[in-house]
Amino acid sequence: MLTFPDGFLWGAATAAHQVEGNNTNNDWWVKEHAAGTTIVEPSGDAMDSYHRYREDMRLLADAGLTSYRFSLEWSRIEPEPGFVSRAEIDHYRRMVDTAREFGLNPVVSLLHFTVPQWMFEQGFWRNPDAASLFARFTETALPIVADVDYVVTINEPNIAAMLAGGETAANLVAFGLPRPDLQVADALLAAHKASREVLASVPGIKSGWTVATQAFHSTGEPGADEKLREYAYPSDDWYLENARGDDFIGVQAYTRTFIGPDGPIPVRDDVETTLTGWEYFPPALELGVRAAWDLTEHVPVFVTENGIATADDSRRIDYTDGALRGLHAAIEDGIEVIGYEHWSALDNYEWASGFRPTFGLIAVDRETFVRTPKPSLAWLGTVARANALP
Ligand code: BGC
Repeated sequence: MLTFPDGFLWGAATAAHQVEGNNTNNDWWVKEHAAGTTIVEPSGDAMDSYHRYREDMRLLADAGLTSYRFSLEWSRIEPEPGFVSRAEIDHYRRMVDTAREFGLNPVVSLLHFTVPQWMFEQGFWRNPDAASLFARFTETALPIVADVDYVVTINEPNIAAMLAGGETAANLVAFGLPRPDLQVADALLAAHKASREVLASVPGIKSGWTVATQAFHSTGEPGADEKLREYAYPSDDWYLENARGDDFIGVQAYTRTFIGPDGPIPVRDDVETTLTGWEYFPPALELGVRAAWDLTEHVPVFVTENGIATADDSRRIDYTDGALRGLHAAIEDGIEVIGYEHWSALDNYEWASGFRPTFGLIAVDRETFVRTPKPSLAWLGTVARANALP
């Protein structure tokens, strides 16, 4: 038995735009419907979790999980600059209460990629006022998160800085992404700090941001090691270093990326790949956790995402088992880890790739919205109940 620390949180994660449906007032919805878009299909009703979150949470809790990570949709809460929807505040407050009712510790992300369309039109993260707009939104959201233990300010700022021009890459963690816009990176850091300052006014809230750790590997060719160092720093490491002093650092790990002398290279043909085209590589989690612990100088780590897009649920179980074994080894070495949130609770809208890459522990019929838990949910629930891997 590989036992995890007492009080370790076992959960699953979602993001508002990927599951709620009909987020018609954010930048992604507009991009989904733009002429000539490369986004394969629009999000539409998504999984209708805006209405069905109670059922989603009940399924997770019934399986044995103890946490649920979800995000707020800024465009619903502040549909026009400075106009706050009381009803939407109440909606998300009910989600927090529902999680508690089911014994799920709610982990709330304030921002998971999408912004209100008005914020996008005002320059997005290049707007000099972006940090203060986000701080104001954080204040608006305080009644929702007032008694939440873990609040994520910004999901994957390192990916957000790569998509800051409004690009819609199909591949969020691999070869083919644009280079990060360093000015946007600074703006995201300023927004994170301003948001954390607001959150610090509420005793008990622990806050941090989450980083997509990309487990860069050198191909070993001449020049590849130098290229790796040059490439990894502005992609991942800078975001981990800048989490020093935060209450936690979120690690989101899926696969690895090889770097050759000219930069990242596509996934080799002879390796197992997932429905997102990424290499099947469970050790990515342990590598991400170790990097986060070292580069933050020992900020507690929270695995806020880890998972696999596959139509074969037995590969999901195998992947997760492998990832958790690596995580356990990191914990054995003294790394403080708060919990593990599997990506994702539900099959959902995988951004530019549409609904085809299925990351969920629960399948969803897109016409009836009927939820069907997969064996992997029962498996993870058993691990959670035992707080141990067999
Ligand atoms: C994001 C999720 C996304 C997942 C799989 C992460 O980069 O936070 O929104 O669905 O990876 O691509």
